[in-house]
Amino acid sequence: MPFVIAIDGPAASGKGTIARAISDHFGFHHLDTGLLYRATGAKGGDPVEAARSLTAEDLARPDLRSAEAGQAASRIAAIADVRAALVDFQHRFALREPGAVLDGRDIGTVICPQAPVKLYVVASDEVRAARRAQELNADPAEMLVQLRERDRRDSERAAAPLRPADDAVIIDTSNMDIDEAVATAIAAVERVRG
Ligand code: CDP
Ligand code: CDP
Repeated sequence: MPFVIAIDGPAASGKGTIARAISDHFGFHHLDTGLLYRATGAKGGDPVEAARSLTAEDLARPDLRSAEAGQAASRIAAIADVRAALVDFQHRFALREPGAVLDGRDIGTVICPQAPVKLYVVASDEVRAARRAQELNADPAEMLVQLRERDRRDSERAAAPLRPADDAVIIDTSNMDIDEAVATAIAAVERVRG
C-alpha cells in the first residue's frame, strides 16, 4: 500500500506549504484538494456539473488563488453532490506509489480516514489573515473578516465539515516560521514511518 499523509486545517494556516515541502522531502505526490473546489466554483454554471467535468485546464486557471475564488469555493463546497463528484479523483490520487500527500479540509476525516499520518494545521486568526494579506497584497483587516467567514461556513456545513480527525496531530504554526513548521511535520511523519 502506498503511504498517505492527510493534512487539513483552516484557511491560510500553512497546510499547503507544509504539504509541498514534505512531499518533496519524502518523494511523494502532492494534491492540493482546495484547487478542485476553487476550480469548480470558478467554472460557474451548475456546480455539480462543473465538478463532474473538471479538466486539467480548469485547474490551471491563474485566478484560482484570489480571495473571491476562495469564497466561491467554500459556497459550492457545502453541496454534498459536489463533494461526491470529487471523491474518486482524490481516492485514485491517494493510491499513487510510493505515497501521496493530500491537503484540504476533510482528508483525514472523510477522504483518507485510514491514512497512517494525519496532520491538522492551525494558526491564530490574526496570523493567518496577515499571511494571506501579504500573499495577495490585500488589507489584513479585510482578510480577517473573509477568512473567518469562510472558516465558519466550512466548519458549520453538514457535508464533511472542517474538523480534526480524532487521531490527528495538531500543529500550531502561529509562532513558527516555515522551516520550523516543516520540521515539525516531518518529525510527526517519521514517528509513524520509523
Ligand atoms: O495552504 P494554506 O491556505 O493553509 O496556507 P499556505 O498557503 O501554505 O500559507 C499561507 C501563507 O503563509 C503563505 O504565504 C506562506 O508562505 C505563509 N506561511 C508562513 O509565513 N509561515 C508558516 N509557518 C507557514 C506559511
Ligand atoms: O488555501 P486555503 O485554505 O485558503 O483554501 P483552499 O484549501 O484552497 O480551499 C478553498 C475552499 O475549498 C475551502 O474554504 C473549503 O470550502 C473548500 N475545500 C473543501 O471543502 N474541502 C477540501 N478538501 C478542500 C477545500
